[in-house]
Amino acid sequence: MTTIETATPAAAPKPSRRRGRLIAAGLVILLAAAGTAYWLTRDTDTGAYDPDAPYLDASRPVAERVDDLLGRMTLDEKIGQMTQAERREVTGGDVTAYALGSLLSGGGSVPSDNTPQGWADMYDGFQTEALATRLRIPMIYGVDAVHGHNNVHGATIFPHNIGLGATRDPQLVRRIGEAVATEVTATGLDWDFAPCLCVARDARWGRTYESFGEDPEIASSMTTIVTGLQGEKLGGPNSVLATAKHYVGDGGTVDGKDQGDARIPEEELRKIHLPPFQAAVKAGVGSVMVSFSSFNGEKLHGHRYLITEVLKGELGFTGFVVSDWNAIDQLDGVRDAFTPAEVSTAINAGIDMVMVPERWREFIAVLRDEVNAGNVPMERIDDANRRILAKKFELGMFEHPMADRAQFDKVGSAAHRELARQAVRQSQVLLKNSGVLPLKPKTGKVFVAGRSADDIGNQSGGWTLTWQGSSGPITDGTTILQGVKEAVEPGGTVTYSADGTGVDKSYDVAIAVIGETPYAEYEGDRPDGVKLDKVDLDTLATLRKAGVPVVVVLVSGRPVDVSAQLPQVQGLVAAWLPGTEGAGVADVLFGAYAPTGKLPMSWPATAAQEPVNTGDEKTPLFPYGFGLTY
Ligand code: BGC
Ligand code: BGC
Repeated sequence: MTTIETATPAAAPKPSRRRGRLIAAGLVILLAAAGTAYWLTRDTDTGAYDPDAPYLDASRPVAERVDDLLGRMTLDEKIGQMTQAERREVTGGDVTAYALGSLLSGGGSVPSDNTPQGWADMYDGFQTEALATRLRIPMIYGVDAVHGHNNVHGATIFPHNIGLGATRDPQLVRRIGEAVATEVTATGLDWDFAPCLCVARDARWGRTYESFGEDPEIASSMTTIVTGLQGEKLGGPNSVLATAKHYVGDGGTVDGKDQGDARIPEEELRKIHLPPFQAAVKAGVGSVMVSFSSFNGEKLHGHRYLITEVLKGELGFTGFVVSDWNAIDQLDGVRDAFTPAEVSTAINAGIDMVMVPERWREFIAVLRDEVNAGNVPMERIDDANRRILAKKFELGMFEHPMADRAQFDKVGSAAHRELARQAVRQSQVLLKNSGVLPLKPKTGKVFVAGRSADDIGNQSGGWTLTWQGSSGPITDGTTILQGVKEAVEPGGTVTYSADGTGVDKSYDVAIAVIGETPYAEYEGDRPDGVKLDKVDLDTLATLRKAGVPVVVVLVSGRPVDVSAQLPQVQGLVAAWLPGTEGAGVADVLFGAYAPTGKLPMSWPATAAQEPVNTGDEKTPLFPYGFGLTY
């Protein structure tokens, strides 16, 4: 690792001298707290950089390296490690000046050159700044690669978790984790804010598609993705730090409200929402992200019992806990400032790294004051640092801090797209078939309609290129229409019109690709239930009037109320949010692969029936686990 070897040569300070310096540093910190020219004095060092320091010796055990490094760090350096800023909110020199421990890309926060090389260049720029700090501790860069490396143009977009839940195939999901980790490391990044292990109990929740399903058993079994992302252990060639999120009960809020309140007994929290986190800890997940939501009125970000006692104590989680986007600012119910009470409550509750995207300077100042005032014990700061630094060592970041530029071509590679297509096939759930499916390949006249038939953006959903996602040709891939054409032509003909105009009796079948358009957290909440829009109902009406059999392919992040339409259509397939490989949908429609997908959620009989879950007294339209085949 060349960067570190350009060290300013300095002998290891003798312990006694170091102690003296520590005391001096302590005095300086007190002065700084008194409000004097703080940034000029803060890093009166406890020893210059020492290239022979034990923490730089990769042959030593991680625990020893952590202890050694921690012993050299000032309070400000420790607070820096606990601080995560957004890439748009730092300017040249900040990472060095504030010794920032981590950066992130929020949804859609991309370098101006949104290519693998553009990302690697950006990453290396920040890392060079981190390595210019006194102790040369690398920064760790996190991103939401929640269904592929989804901010990157040209990356493979896999089905969202709800579709993966329908596959019931943990080994497939593990391989997807490996592919995602490869695409993420190919761009230089270290850390993925995935998997979401939320157990969605109410489909009105806008994050339902980030859930593997309503039964904890599915999400628990899918924690194979943690091994896929991290490797058998951290530090392998394509290993990224995984994040189990959002701890805990985010899918159990009243009325499926995002960032809402799970008003349930602890017994139910433990039975429904905790098990996937237990499984993730068992699989060695390196980080856990806390949920914006509350548990019986108490915000999770201040929940010492659930974070420190249950997660770190009972479950034995040894990685680090990261907060969600500005979430600590919500602790007192007012989004205004990181108040001293909010900051100390969050850190004392057990949060180790704090996602403070924009106002990270404010956070640093408040936490410093709270430590100096004795409101946050030094042992808590040290514990947080131990946890963060251990992961950086385990990832091999001190040995290989810079982006590995040998794998740009892995991003959106043919092999990953083939894996994604397989996942799409396996995620299709056949809900109705009056004998019209499978369609005959390479013969006949097929009509395709619907606003999601030829739309990569719609079939990918939220968290694709941008935070909320958007319609249109937003990245490379195969639309469902293109997949249908591949299956039919030559031999047959495919006619397409989004609203169904032009359909007539001469067609053998009409495929209507309808459903939801992209949304993400918060904006996707549908308190009145999930229904078809008028434009989709109009398309269906046009097709039905022509008197041809209609197969509905529903592109959606969750069950949609289709009870009124069901008797009028001859086939219904839940395609979920398949991502960029739309041909996988056609593979099933045309019988190249028989459907095997099973519902990961109960399908409500009416929009008003939510919440409806397996084991309750209600009768859904299709039960949990339902799925036909041929
Ligand atoms: C979301 C997280 C995400 C984070 C960073 C938050 O708003 O709740 O799931 O990891 O933003 O983008
Ligand atoms: C970011 C997301 C984040 C959200 C939180 C957006 O601007 O892109 O990553 O989750 O803000 O409100």
